Amino acid sequence: MDFAAALQSRVSRVEAGIDRLLPPASEPSSRLHGAMRYSMQAGGKRLRPVLVLAACELFESAPRADPLPAAVAVECVHTYSLVHDDLPCMDDDSLRRGRPTAHVAYDEATALLAGDALLTHAFAILSGSYSGDSALAASLVAELAEAAGSRRLIGGQMEDLLAERIPGATPETLRFIHLNKTAAMIEASLAMGGRCGGAPAASVEALRASGRELGLAFQIVDDILDATADTATLGKTAGKDAKAGKATYVSLHGLDAARRIARESSDAAIAGLRRLPGDTGFLAALAESLVNRTH
Ligand code: IPE
Ligand code: IPE
Ligand code: MG
Ligand code: MG
Ligand code: MG
Repeated sequence: MDFAAALQSRVSRVEAGIDRLLPPASEPSSRLHGAMRYSMQAGGKRLRPVLVLAACELFESAPRADPLPAAVAVECVHTYSLVHDDLPCMDDDSLRRGRPTAHVAYDEATALLAGDALLTHAFAILSGSYSGDSALAASLVAELAEAAGSRRLIGGQMEDLLAERIPGATPETLRFIHLNKTAAMIEASLAMGGRCGGAPAASVEALRASGRELGLAFQIVDDILDATADTATLGKTAGKDAKAGKATYVSLHGLDAARRIARESSDAAIAGLRRLPGDTGFLAALAESLVNRTH
């Protein structure tokens, strides 16, 4: 199977899992459940859940548990972070995944509540789906809570917003922002996939280390695309970072250096992934595709 087909088959599994594990829109409150599904089922690259599945596959000879619920839980947290990131009090964006953002399609209060509910639902999925292996359930909950919490994703988002108002962010601050607002969830995706596969502790650590480099490269490319791509291709508003005065790899280091640093981090991630056991071909190809992506 070529890479595109291999990716599509995993994305399809994720989409089916999302449909199965989210509350139906017909269930009260149907406005809330409709809004959760609106944002979750708008497409999106599904990178993080595919990383969960792909990391688990490395240990396929003896998988400990089905990684699909963990993959959906990660996508719930990621999607909630986008819904809130787009709110007027944050990045104030009206387009996401090629559609009006949740607060535009519904209203601000509904978007806020749908985000809250997606975050909580992620942990309900984990505790409900892995109850037969309580040690695994606890480790997945801890992994996701750490990545989504104040020391990682939310801390990165806080510093990202603060850096808008305090011009002259240092390279260290910018690295902190990217490692936390973005790389944390990518690290957690790989680590959670490894845990579902029954990976030994050393492999979980190696997955996390690769995820860190991959996540850094991913956000640098996001910054580059914001500055160079168009809104139709991205499915979200282009050029918004410069307008908002965001600290990005492009604003701080320039386009050429940003491209070089993204390439270096991506190469480090790929080298780390290749050292893992099992067939690392798909994961390495996925990492390679991200540094060259156009949206
Ligand atoms: C957007 O993430 C937010 C960042 C961390 C850059 P993605 O680029 O993965 O967005 P979707 O999930 O494909 O919509
Ligand atoms: C993504 O950063 C951060 C999140 C954790 C949601 P951005 O603010 O650059 O993401 P986009 O460009 O809006 O997708
Ligand atoms: Mg943002
Ligand atoms: Mg944003
Ligand atoms: Mg961006």
